[in-house]
Amino acid sequence: MAFPRQRLRRLRQSEPLRRMVRETRLSTPDLIAPFFVTGGRDRRDAISSMPGQYRLSVDLLVKEAAEVKLLGIPAVILFGIPDRRDERGTAAYDPNGIVQQAVRALKDQVPGLLVVTDVCIDEYTSHGHCGLVQDGRILNDETLECLRAVARTHAEAGADIVAPSDMMDGRVGAIRGELDRAGFPDLPIMAYAAKFASCFYAPFRDAAESSPKFGDRQSYQMDLANAREAIREIELDVEEGADIVMVKPAMPCLDIIAAARSRVLLPIAAYQVSGEYSMIKAAARAGWLGETQAMMESLLSIKRAGADLIVTYFAKDAARLLNASCA
Ligand code: PBG
Repeated sequence: MAFPRQRLRRLRQSEPLRRMVRETRLSTPDLIAPFFVTGGRDRRDAISSMPGQYRLSVDLLVKEAAEVKLLGIPAVILFGIPDRRDERGTAAYDPNGIVQQAVRALKDQVPGLLVVTDVCIDEYTSHGHCGLVQDGRILNDETLECLRAVARTHAEAGADIVAPSDMMDGRVGAIRGELDRAGFPDLPIMAYAAKFASCFYAPFRDAAESSPKFGDRQSYQMDLANAREAIREIELDVEEGADIVMVKPAMPCLDIIAAARSRVLLPIAAYQVSGEYSMIKAAARAGWLGETQAMMESLLSIKRAGADLIVTYFAKDAARLLNASCA
């Protein structure tokens, strides 16, 4: 039955045929748009390492988020840039902190848009680590106290989903317990379950000024070489009460996304991180890649690997394109 009777090119002859047999489709409700929020008013500071991305004050974030909602993107995820940093990252769990203010404003002024918050202290600590530090070591269990407080204050501000990204052991269970005790048993947790120590976070750290001041994140984020361990991380987060599990970064981890898809029944999110975005932007600016095609190909590959949701800085651009193509 092989060639010449079997010709796979038959179904590739025209766009209507290709469209009909297409196995994977990207759609606007798959996307989550990340935003950096900062203090002040009417502020829109360009992030030089992430062309097209800005640090926005709350008033301008509200405007952006309204556009996101209009485009049909279901959710935003917020990262805060505080005006003060200390050893314990206290600005991260200040009930009046920048993310807490932003959540309240968005819930008030952009009803129907889901607000996800990043639960981590690295943007708020003077040392830039995701955990408390003692004698140069990153403490695990002590950090859980901070994460509980971050998640609770986000919940109290009205967050729809909390997303812990710190990679401390036991944080999902700790946050679940805290939310349940504080009267938020129905608030979902999207856990950055398999988060690898990756150089592709560099533009984000630039944007959030959150590079560690000493050492690196390899004692808490995963070793990129480990796929079986990623599955253990994911299964543990599921056991501890995660509602959505995330893999990060996305394109360097398509195998992990696919493995996760075959192992767990929860929705799977993938984070197309800052470096993945900036790489495409830079190549496009140099004239080496077509930006639109590279954007869509990267997103489709993440979806094909098995992600249900994609956190991406391209969310608005991709949504515009997707909405136009189904009009
Ligand atoms: C930690 C956090 C980081 C990212 C999301 N949450 C930075 C890090 O781990 O260093 C990176 C996202 C990106 O690169 O787009 N709060």
